[in-house]
Amino acid sequence: MGKIHIHVDVNGQAYQLQVEEDAFLVDVLRENLNLTGTKKACNEGECGACTVILNGKAVNSCMILASRVDGARILTIEGLGSGDRLHPIQEAFITEGAVQCGYCTPGMIMSAKALLDQNPHPSEGEIRRGLSGNLCRCTGYKKIVQAVKVAAEKMAGQNS
Ligand code: FES
Ligand code: FES
Repeated sequence: MGKIHIHVDVNGQAYQLQVEEDAFLVDVLRENLNLTGTKKACNEGECGACTVILNGKAVNSCMILASRVDGARILTIEGLGSGDRLHPIQEAFITEGAVQCGYCTPGMIMSAKALLDQNPHPSEGEIRRGLSGNLCRCTGYKKIVQAVKVAAEKMAGQNS
C-alpha cells in the first residue's frame, strides 16, 4: 500500500500529512499527531472510545480511513476548552462524578458535544440516544446523562 497526502484541520490547526492508504483516522491522530486523548478499545466501531467530531458529526475514528478525510475539519478532545480552562462538558463530567476509569470519557464527551451543538436542550431520552454508541463499563450511565444535562444548562446560561 502506498502513502497518500492529505490536508486536515485538527482542533483549528492545519496539517499536511502523509498517511498510509489503509491507515485509520484514530491511529493517525494518536501516532502522527500525538493526540492520544482519543482512545482506541474495540477497534471495530462498537464502543465509541475513539469518537471525534468530523465536519460537525460524531464518528468512530477507528472506522474511518485517514485517506478519506482530506480537507476535513476534525475536533478531538484536545480541542475542547481553551488554555487551562475546561469546556463546560468536561467540567460537568468531573463535578457530577461521571468519570471512573476514564477510558470512555473522551469519546462520551465528544458525542455529548456533537449532541449539544445540534440540540442545546436535549431531553433525557435524547441524551441517552445521543450517547447510545458510547459504551461505559464503569458508571452505569446515570451520572454521565446527569453530567450532560448539567453541561447543557451551563452552556445555555453562558450563551444568554
Ligand atoms: S475503538 Fe472505535 S468504536 Fe471502539
Ligand atoms: S468510566 Fe470506565 S468505561 Fe466509562
